[in-house]
Amino acid sequence: MIPRFITLEGGEGAGKSTQIRLLAQALAQAGQAVLRTREPGGSAGAERVRELILSRPWDPLAEMALHFAARREHWARSIAPCLAAGAFVVSDRFFDSTLAYQVGGQGAPRAVWEGLRTTLLGDAAPGLTLLLDLPVEAGLARAEARGETNRYETLGAGFHERVREAFLAQAKAEPDRIKVIDATHPPAEVSAAILAACRDRFGLP
Ligand SMILES: Nc1ncnc2c1ncn2[C@@H]1O[C@H](COP(=O)(O)OP(=O)(O)O)[C@@H](O)[C@H]1O
Ligand SMILES: [Mg+2]
Repeated sequence: MIPRFITLEGGEGAGKSTQIRLLAQALAQAGQAVLRTREPGGSAGAERVRELILSRPWDPLAEMALHFAARREHWARSIAPCLAAGAFVVSDRFFDSTLAYQVGGQGAPRAVWEGLRTTLLGDAAPGLTLLLDLPVEAGLARAEARGETNRYETLGAGFHERVREAFLAQAKAEPDRIKVIDATHPPAEVSAAILAACRDRFGLP
């Protein structure tokens, strides 16, 4: 568990990009150094892998391996050095997304996720994960209204229901790390809930 490492998780259109901006702003205003980053991607090499992942369909295990290759690069070159320097790191998605999308959504074996996680990251894990949860149709409608779509958004409601269930199951399994945030409320209310969770966890003013 790494105290200053915060991840935002959730399905398409849950508000992760919106909320990570607000969270990074609030941390900076509180005088904290902060790296705002995202997955897949977050470092030069990992952004190249992101392009590969999103450019075409993959076998589920190959896709999981690509996500973890990008994640290892992101961790080693961006996240770990920033944490070591004392900064907060806030990431739009991390390993819970691979569990939800590739294991829950695409049916890859959970043991492979666990093995890759342990082999590549050891026991490194976020100190706080905020799961932005809302009904699948609402999230997909928001994502559609936003305009840009990616390959995952087109995979159908059944896929996204399994993703949501996998996220919620993981939150139930790790209640100390993962806080479920009701993402149906307006952005300012969601942001207030996120900041309250950060205050509770890190004792920030
Ligand atoms: N709480 C909210 N209520 C209504 N619309 C929202 C909310 N949060 C974000 N949106 C809008 O929904 C769309 C998707 O939000 P975004 O932050 O891009 O989600 P994500 O990064 O999780 O896919 C954007 O157009 C955004 O402005
Ligand atoms: Mg986003």
